[in-house]
Amino acid sequence: MKANSNIDVNGLDCFKAQLTEKDFEAFSKFIYGEFGIKMPPVKRIMLQGRLLKRIRELNMSSYSEYKDYLFSKEGHQEEIFNFLNVVTTNKTDFYREPVHFDFLKSHVLPKFTEKATREPFNIWSAGCSSGEELYTIAITLSEYKREQPSFSFKMLGTDISHNVLDKAAKGVYAINKVDIVPLELKKRYLLKSKDKENQTVKIIPELKNNLNLKYLNLMDTTYSNISEKFDVVFCRNVLIYFDRFTQESVINKLSTYLKPGGYFFIGHSESLTGMDVSLEHIKPTIFRKL
Ligand SMILES: C[S@@+](CC[C@H](N)C(=O)[O-])C[C@H]1O[C@@H](n2cnc3c(N)ncnc32)[C@H](O)[C@@H]1O
Repeated sequence: MKANSNIDVNGLDCFKAQLTEKDFEAFSKFIYGEFGIKMPPVKRIMLQGRLLKRIRELNMSSYSEYKDYLFSKEGHQEEIFNFLNVVTTNKTDFYREPVHFDFLKSHVLPKFTEKATREPFNIWSAGCSSGEELYTIAITLSEYKREQPSFSFKMLGTDISHNVLDKAAKGVYAINKVDIVPLELKKRYLLKSKDKENQTVKIIPELKNNLNLKYLNLMDTTYSNISEKFDVVFCRNVLIYFDRFTQESVINKLSTYLKPGGYFFIGHSESLTGMDVSLEHIKPTIFRKL
């Protein structure tokens, strides 16, 4: 690794290299093999831009230098999670695709209320990103519990990125991220920072009480660190990055964790059409274990 090799004598950034088709292909193959994520040629410029930041941080001078490092034994161990954070798209929001939360409230929860007085209603967000989806679910369930005090719940959030899991654990968000949260719910579940310069909100500790966060690569052959069964699994806007074969295999693995009659939610640009899965179609993007 050359120190400051992308900075010229005047201290100016002179990194102009391009990610060649050959190097892109090598990264693309690696990404698919390690994470199951598709990286078609149209994403070459996007990957080039995202890798550039990391290459600068490491003071490297080219994409191929970074590639050689990543593909080496040492680099694989040291760099794989940083590389993953570069590659994955973690876009998420509070109340993203709100019909799912309405459906949860009006159709799913009433069915489970009686059972959830004996054992907690159990829900898993697979590919939870930085926690906005989980906390939207937590708010929905907590609101339901206000009406049905005997109802109890617990939640699991998993993701392949340690970065986003740390953010989810902190539960601190820029104030504009929660614009969509109704005022009454903001008052009940969010704490506003006093810092006028950098306005943030923090999720109240009570919402995190029943939340467990874990690292999980959905590509793993078995999910050995998940031993419980769930009433609901959310796996939204994650499958979209996988090819059809991987999608089917991930869905089949996830559905073994659903209790009979449990619900499975996918993102609105995803589909299970034509797949051999043991899930019954309820509504677009909403399924039920047979
Ligand atoms: C676009 S975000 C979706 C977040 C949230 N579910 C939502 O719909 O708002 C996709 C998430 O999937 C995660 N992811 C990508 N590949 C994964 C894999 N192989 N195993 C587990 N998580 C993965 C990413 O790290 C990212 O946080």
